[in-house]
Amino acid sequence: MRSRRSCLAVPGSNPRFLEKAQGLPADEVFFDLEDSVAPQAKEGARKNIVQALRTGDWTGRTRVVRVNDLSTAWTYRDVIEVVEGAGDALDCLMLPKAEDAGHVAWLDTLLTQIEKAVGLPVGRIGIEAQIESARGLVNVDAIAAASPRLEALVFGPADFMASINMRTLVVGRQPPGYTEGDAYHYILMRILMAARMHDLQAIDGPYLQIKDLDGFTMVARRAAALGFDGKWVLHPTQIEAANEVFSPAQEDFDHAERILEAYEHATTVDRRGAVMLGDEMIDEASRKMALVVAAKGRAAGM
Ligand code: GLV
Ligand code: MG
Repeated sequence: MRSRRSCLAVPGSNPRFLEKAQGLPADEVFFDLEDSVAPQAKEGARKNIVQALRTGDWTGRTRVVRVNDLSTAWTYRDVIEVVEGAGDALDCLMLPKAEDAGHVAWLDTLLTQIEKAVGLPVGRIGIEAQIESARGLVNVDAIAAASPRLEALVFGPADFMASINMRTLVVGRQPPGYTEGDAYHYILMRILMAARMHDLQAIDGPYLQIKDLDGFTMVARRAAALGFDGKWVLHPTQIEAANEVFSPAQEDFDHAERILEAYEHATTVDRRGAVMLGDEMIDEASRKMALVVAAKGRAAGM
């Protein structure tokens, strides 16, 4: 699976940002044709993005383009222009406002036709689906099962909060007046369950107060603690924070490695299924938990 600890949003209408993004250490770069691009700039943005994909150096990064959502007049041309122009230099398309399985199936079919028409390997380009409405969340299981191209479910908190009439203007913070619990918990968990059921990654969306790094880190930690794989970043300062938050702490990684080693020894040499590691009783389930932490650490280069 690709690493997506930090997913950098780059507006397709801004050539300066497209240029600058090449030097940034985000795991994923996604070129936007949707909400960060004004209606009159959509056509020009498609061309900028094709050129950036063709000529930029994106080595080691996951290359994604976010097309417009299916309620607009732009989506089909977004897909056709980007994939015909730079399909071989593209890893995934991101579909915003995915509301039912049919939306994802539509994109899958269109991608297959274009791949056949231009001679690209069929099925190589993946899909990331954004869950950002009540309807999308209620249908999230069907969305997650809609195509073998799916690689990730992405929470879109700004659109989501608007769609459910949550009375807040700051994405990620608890809505004013909400004093108990976490207003985001159910949504994040629901998306995570659907993602894991279908072996997809789960990605948290943007934190819009880009100068508030503490706020970003707090929100990122909340998603990372549940098991999310990464988060959007809108500014270079958020990249490093995301890469750190979505990698395990060194001591947790080392602990996981110790559990794996001790348990391997216990089961193969001592032929026991439960043993003590220091003060801790470990068994097969401990091994599975340790595997998760170890795998995240190795993916982060530990
Ligand atoms: C992202 O697309 C969001 O709506 O938060
Ligand atoms: Mg959105």
